[in-house]
Amino acid sequence: MKLTWLGHSAVRLEMGSSVILIDPFLKGSPTFKGDYEAVTAGVTHIIVTHGHDDHVGDTAEIAVRTGAQVISNYEICTWLCGQGVTKINPGNTGGTVPCGEFTVTFTQALHSSGTVKDGQSIYLGNPNGVVIKHPKAQTIYHAGDTDVFGDMTIIDELHRPKIGFLPIGDRFTMSAETAAFAVKRFFNFETVVPIHYATFEGYLAPNADGFVKALAGHKTRVLVPDLLEAVTI
Ligand code: NI
Ligand code: MN
Repeated sequence: MKLTWLGHSAVRLEMGSSVILIDPFLKGSPTFKGDYEAVTAGVTHIIVTHGHDDHVGDTAEIAVRTGAQVISNYEICTWLCGQGVTKINPGNTGGTVPCGEFTVTFTQALHSSGTVKDGQSIYLGNPNGVVIKHPKAQTIYHAGDTDVFGDMTIIDELHRPKIGFLPIGDRFTMSAETAAFAVKRFFNFETVVPIHYATFEGYLAPNADGFVKALAGHKTRVLVPDLLEAVTI
């Protein structure tokens, strides 16, 4: 499997013949300086964890252009259909949806999900994390935006994810310290990748140093990829 961090919570995963984008916030992201066409080329699936703009991002444009299937909660899927998206694969917390070669399970997240358009509040369901299982790859948990919660231990027990993507930026999500606490207390990751930091200056943690420090000596490897650096794992 190949993983590429695209900044913020956006990740590109290549596993088998699937090319998956999670939370593709690209054009509007202050830190995404990559080749938009290149990183969205050949995408087969887009997973959206919740309805905030910094996660939905460019989903509609990419899905319409590439024909990628969108996997998200029911409210976000139907909202995106109103923006021209035709291939949707909706679910909700606790459910697993087949996505061709792999499956996505929607997990709980302690956060919110709505957005505002033209002064009108739009309800976009509950926020989720996701577990991705592919027969040829290690099981992945992408937490979306969330605080730490005790039922993370159930996610570990049920799904045994080996690779975790956890938000560490603080203010809107867990901080470096609480995310490290979650890793130690609730998971058995081989590798954990910090996300949701450095994007908005003055608002989020500027780097992953605190997270790396908080996990020093722990069995889980902290992988801090450079932006756009493809890592084979
Ligand atoms: Ni959010
Ligand atoms: Mn966010």
